[in-house]
Amino acid sequence: MSRVAVLEGGQSLERQVSLRSGARVRDALERVGHDVIAIDVGRDLVERLTSERPDVAFVALHGRDGEDGTVQEILELVGIPYTASGPSACMRCMDKVLAKHAFRDAGLPTPDFYAFSQTAFESLGAAHALPAIEERLDFPVVVKPAAQGSALGIRFAPSAADVPAAIVAAFSYDTKVLLERHVAGRELAVSVLDGADGPQALPIVEAIPRSDHYDFEARYEIGSTDFVCPAELDPQVAQRAQALALDAYRVLGCYGFARVDLMLETDTGELTLLEANAIPGLTETSLLPQAAEAAGISFAAFVERVIDLALAREPASTG
Ligand SMILES: Nc1ncnc2c1ncn2[C@@H]1O[C@H](COP(=O)(O)OP(=O)(O)O)[C@@H](O)[C@H]1O
Ligand SMILES: [Mg+2]
Repeated sequence: MSRVAVLEGGQSLERQVSLRSGARVRDALERVGHDVIAIDVGRDLVERLTSERPDVAFVALHGRDGEDGTVQEILELVGIPYTASGPSACMRCMDKVLAKHAFRDAGLPTPDFYAFSQTAFESLGAAHALPAIEERLDFPVVVKPAAQGSALGIRFAPSAADVPAAIVAAFSYDTKVLLERHVAGRELAVSVLDGADGPQALPIVEAIPRSDHYDFEARYEIGSTDFVCPAELDPQVAQRAQALALDAYRVLGCYGFARVDLMLETDTGELTLLEANAIPGLTETSLLPQAAEAAGISFAAFVERVIDLALAREPASTG
């Protein structure tokens, strides 16, 4: 049995979701007899870690700081093994622009996109490039902040007139935004879990929103989105989606577990990668636990495996 610190809460916009993920993780750990400490991540994080001296940290944080590599860097520094991806994979997952460039460089499909920083806009006249972009992407376009989660700050711009306001809205979440080709189709999530034989893709979850607005509320309000697992897909399509998710996981350098979001485009039948989440939600209604369950992996077994993987990870190079 180990002494496990569950890192939860934090100051990101996804704090409430993280508290629920953390509570569920702690409950599972306690049931199997681990010595569990809850740490609501804040200014005293390093002090808490050095005074509590856990054997391992379970990072149940979502969004900024917890999922973007910041907390992972601190854990490396303090020398405490921790769950899921390391700093560089977290950074690539959290920044959709970096992730999409990595996909594109590796020849993996992702919707066409153009990204700019606030500086490009304010100091380099990037706004003048909008008409050219709009011409290349067609409408509607999707405007999103590079580094937010849970659909926060994402706007669909039906016409050119809607783009500036959508960009301004996205800039209130991050200093980098992207304009992305809109993909009409089915929304799939493939969770990936590492194991003795390397990463394994779990059964696919399809999210079927009940309205056109698949936003933050819809995602967490039970009943406003239907989740089907395993998704009803042609077996060949399912296999391709799982293979693509594993490719994305490897290209980003993920470890332990992650969730890859894809679209299955209606017109073309093509699969395309939207993003990867280094620490997806682990609440009662979250997709990864549902997918694990469908693969016969209970939440307790999932948590246990993730802890074992954390303890087995090679420490970061000190040379
Ligand atoms: N290019 C796109 N085409 C169509 N729908 C999109 C597109 N990008 C995002 N969406 C919708 O917005 C949701 C959230 O987008 P995503 O890129 O996964 O960001 P996050 O989950 O981090 O907020 C997706 O699940 C999908 O419903
Ligand atoms: Mg997503």
